[in-house]
Amino acid sequence: MIQQTKDRSEIVDPNFDPSVDEEAIVQAGGLSANTNRPQMLADFIGQSASKRILEISLRAAKERGEPVDHILLSGPPGLGKTTLANVIANEMGYGFVSTSAPAMTKPGDLAAVLFSLEPWSVLFVDEIHRLGKQAAEMLYTAMEDYRVDIVVGEGASAKSVSLDVPPFTLVGATTRQGALAGPFRDRFGLTIRLDYYAPEELEQVLARDARIMELQCTNGALANIARRARGTPRIAKRLLRRVRDVMQDERAPALDDTVVDAGLTLVGVDAFGLDSLDRRYLSTIASHFGGGPVGVETLGAALSEDRETLEASVEPFLLSRGFIDRGPRGRALTEQGRAALARGSGTDL
Ligand code: ADE
Repeated sequence: MIQQTKDRSEIVDPNFDPSVDEEAIVQAGGLSANTNRPQMLADFIGQSASKRILEISLRAAKERGEPVDHILLSGPPGLGKTTLANVIANEMGYGFVSTSAPAMTKPGDLAAVLFSLEPWSVLFVDEIHRLGKQAAEMLYTAMEDYRVDIVVGEGASAKSVSLDVPPFTLVGATTRQGALAGPFRDRFGLTIRLDYYAPEELEQVLARDARIMELQCTNGALANIARRARGTPRIAKRLLRRVRDVMQDERAPALDDTVVDAGLTLVGVDAFGLDSLDRRYLSTIASHFGGGPVGVETLGAALSEDRETLEASVEPFLLSRGFIDRGPRGRALTEQGRAALARGSGTDL
């Protein structure tokens, strides 16, 4: 199975070998095996404005008997883009086919996926901003006219033939909406931006998981995790699994604040929810660059992290909390950032 998610909150599967070029398609059912994921919109917590837009558009498309318009989901990693794409397919009663742009290495890969679709399927393409120019252009005509143009033959005898593909709904996901070419973005009828979750919403996500795991929790324990999960369900769920390990290891009768604090300290998450990379990011600006501003490339080199990881997985949360500023001359630490760093590390920077 393809698991291309590259963000650092994903747990690494020791059997996953990224060099193995497997088929680029994961058929429907792959996600439903994970019962912790909501299957329908009613079970999906938070993102109320986006859910409302989706509810109306899905209902209207169903009433008209048409595939729903192509949808672009954007936002930081871990907020539920894949889950929502699966929910859209379930709500419409369509098949779900999932792939990611980096998995489609050859020009024919996308054509093969398109020709294999059952009519009206939802085709989910993760990291769609990483699609090559040729593949993106093939998608333009597929999205607009359910048709792709293929070149057959070579040299002087080469000619272009136009082939029909089944009607489908493309659901694209991106952490970098600005990296998509304008004409590509314009072909999505619906653009949905997912935002960080409020702590109360994350607490509900955790309560749902705790129920499924049959975990005994005391008042406040889940809220404690939720406050320190960077507004991100994927991180909240991962932290819940780590504190459950501590609870089991200590033979604790229930998940309480003491267990949560011990578990989160163990995995390096501080009172603000900052993890070790966040703190390294902030402390490097403070100690190597006099508090900034510093360019992202320079900062990446100092941290041995690539620019994309910083821009997609680290900076959006630090910006949303006002811990850094991003200006034309680069990134700078704010007073709040300095305070968070000092409180988290116990030092005064
Ligand atoms: N699991 C991951 N994201 C979720 C959400 N938004 N609601 C419920 N469960 C989730």
